[in-house]
Amino acid sequence: MFRKIPQSALLLALILPLAIAQAAADTLFSTNLYAKFQAKACTNCHDFHEAARDGLSFNSHGRRREVNRCRTCHTRQITGFANVADLFARPGLYTSGMGAKETCEATKKALNAEFKSDELLAGQLEKHLFEDPRVLWGIEGATANSGRLPFDKQETNLVEGGLEEWKTQVTAWIKGGMKCE
Ligand code: HEC
Ligand code: HEC
Repeated sequence: MFRKIPQSALLLALILPLAIAQAAADTLFSTNLYAKFQAKACTNCHDFHEAARDGLSFNSHGRRREVNRCRTCHTRQITGFANVADLFARPGLYTSGMGAKETCEATKKALNAEFKSDELLAGQLEKHLFEDPRVLWGIEGATANSGRLPFDKQETNLVEGGLEEWKTQVTAWIKGGMKCE
């Protein structure tokens, strides 16, 4: 009797639970996004003014801290940003060294999530994560200038997997309720 069950049905019975488990996992921040948020292309900038993280402004940028001078090296030609002034760094966001939960919570806190409806927060997260020139610069292949730095340097630890995968994974997390697990 077992033999009469078509093979395709058996295959489906095997694969379906796995697919469902994977879809559930994709709604968690820790599954795909944590590692991506922690790429150096993101954290080098987020750590910039953080003494405890040995941020760049305390070493290679000790003499390059003047905020009006960033653009003289990180030019439009290098960053690819339409507005050169978009390249700046701010303390108090998520940093390197944080775990998955902390990274996610700090991200939401930066957007004052506790005062916003899920709908508003989702829209703002999407806008930032899909359109901000700084984020796109940090994603492998998202722009022709991703990872490019002054003096012919290049950040190599970019968000891997490209823009489409990033969008799919961010969307799964947002649609799944932006859970910080
Ligand atoms: C050039 C520096 C820089 C890079 C590179 C950068 N960020 Fe940011 N990020 C910022 C700044 C500055 C802010 C604060 C927002 C503001 O003041 O415009 C921010 C804010 C955020 C926020 C909070 C949302 C908000 O609007 O405040 C998230 C989430 C974020 N960044 C994720 C990332 C990710 C993921 C990457 C890498 C793919 C990345 N950032 C790369 C500088 C950077
Ligand atoms: C004199 C040229 C110069 C100036 C001015 C300058 N930078 Fe840089 N920046 C560089 C170079 C070169 C690198 C490559 C790595 C290094 O030297 O640390 C770099 C790297 C960075 C990185 C690391 C990105 C990564 O993922 O590795 C960030 C973030 C950054 N700069 C932000 C800034 C900000 C913000 C300012 C202004 C407050 C600024 N820079 C001013 C030359 C400059």
